[in-house]
Amino acid sequence: MLIRPERPDDVDAIDRLTIAAFEPQWFSDGSEAPILRALRASGELTISLVAEDDGDVIGHVAFSPVTIDGSHDGWFGLGPISVRLDRQRQGVGRALVAEGLRRLRDRGARGCALIGDPDIYGRMGFTGDGSLTHGELDPSAVQHVAFSGPSPRGEVHFAPAFDDAGH
Ligand SMILES: CC(C)(COP(=O)(O)OP(=O)(O)OC[C@H]1O[C@@H](n2cnc3c(N)ncnc32)[C@H](O)[C@@H]1OP(=O)(O)O)[C@@H](O)C(=O)NCCC(=O)NCCS
Repeated sequence: MLIRPERPDDVDAIDRLTIAAFEPQWFSDGSEAPILRALRASGELTISLVAEDDGDVIGHVAFSPVTIDGSHDGWFGLGPISVRLDRQRQGVGRALVAEGLRRLRDRGARGCALIGDPDIYGRMGFTGDGSLTHGELDPSAVQHVAFSGPSPRGEVHFAPAFDDAGH
């Protein structure tokens, strides 16, 4: 398996993968693929990695800038992330996250936030300790990993593409 940045000819495969991976999820409103397209269009898809195996795209993860209490300050958001249904629970998601975080650190980022299941991301180094909030969401789902300095406290806001494409 190879983890590499997306190429223009991956876009349709990423779309299909994202739709198929989120379709069975109760929490999904089907906005994930449109969000990716909107991030790409607005230039806010800071890092977009695919997991390729035997020429097929079997996983994908996106990172984009976030603000915490209105300030960007070197923080990024992870998501959407998708692994092909028949390849889940085999370490693909973990590998995508690890490579994405490595690349964020290399860019001088200060940290990464996400909204997701603590059972999954807690195993990948994230903590939902209540320091970040997102509306009315259970704070344990609003997780982060700090690369440098203290963890900020406050309301995390994802790129406008999440609002524009998310409804
Ligand atoms: C979430 C997702 C990206 C995880 O990718 P993955 O390749 O299946 O995850 P990994 O195999 O790398 O697992 C990483 C860790 O999370 C755990 N994990 C993965 N899926 C889990 C689940 N559904 N419930 C509980 N733990 C889970 C694994 O056990 C593993 O921990 P361990 O190594 O300590 O056992 C993938 O399942 C997916 O595409 N889901 C559908 C779309 C989605 O929900 N995206 C995320 C929205 S927040």
